[in-house]
Amino acid sequence: MVPMTVRRVIITGGGTGIGRACAARFARAGDEVWVTGRRRAPLDEVATDLGVTALSFDASDPEQVATALDHLPSSVDVLVHCAGGVARTPGPESPGEAARLAAVAAEWRASHSANVLTAVLVTAALAGRLVEGARVVAIGSIAARTGAGSYGAAKAALEAWAVGQARALGPRGITVNVVSPGLTEDTEFFGDTMTPARRERLVAETLTGRAGTPDDVAALVTFLASPEAGHVTSQVVPVNGGAQAAR
Ligand SMILES: NC(=O)c1ccc[n+]([C@@H]2O[C@H](COP(=O)([O-])OP(=O)(O)OC[C@H]3O[C@@H](n4cnc5c(N)ncnc54)[C@H](OP(=O)(O)O)[C@@H]3O)[C@@H](O)[C@H]2O)c1
Repeated sequence: MVPMTVRRVIITGGGTGIGRACAARFARAGDEVWVTGRRRAPLDEVATDLGVTALSFDASDPEQVATALDHLPSSVDVLVHCAGGVARTPGPESPGEAARLAAVAAEWRASHSANVLTAVLVTAALAGRLVEGARVVAIGSIAARTGAGSYGAAKAALEAWAVGQARALGPRGITVNVVSPGLTEDTEFFGDTMTPARRERLVAETLTGRAGTPDDVAALVTFLASPEAGHVTSQVVPVNGGAQAAR
């Protein structure tokens, strides 16, 4: 067993759902945790509840990420990218094909921004601060395999990005992996879009007969972040109750 020391952990999207569950696990383990997100209120709540540090910035905005660097630790052991979700962009602003295509383009840009750029920019900003043997974990989605429009495509791009990062950072003993959840409840992910019929269909696709919880995902994240997981890198690891097999 490798002895654990206090690690410095940054979790984007750490104010709610899966990110919050990850923060709770790392905090319980005695690590020093920073949670980030755009809205101040959920971050402050997590900071109070878990005794972690909250920092508000838009992880898809280069300027805001650069400014945040002043408030983030000078060395980082674990970086968890939970920021992301389905882009809810408005429909066409006017009749006609150009407006319709403009709305399509806006949605695809927003998906890419929320799910890919957030991880890309924060990792690029902190790459020089990652310690030897650091861990990077990004939250992907089952949607990368099932196809889910711009969201699934963005999560597939995140997987490809992680492979490149694992290759670039591997010589420093740093691992980069994607954890790919299926239906995970008690998050803000679905907003008001979940219906009983949709939930029933998604649960029926699992072999466990239940929805996932944020802690199901956080448990895998903390394993991949552990010293024991040093030879697991460049992988996409699902947590979906068997709704889709990884092979
Ligand atoms: N729940 C599911 O069923 C499910 C399934 C597969 C994958 N996932 C993925 O799991 C990850 C975590 O989502 P969740 O399920 O825990 O839902 P969630 O509660 O909506 O969490 C997403 C978090 O990301 C933050 N965020 C979004 N865009 C951001 C940005 N540009 N900059 C900084 N923070 C940003 C949000 O906070 P602010 O809005 O305040 O910024 C929020 O705290 C996401 O990547 C999601 O795509 C979820």
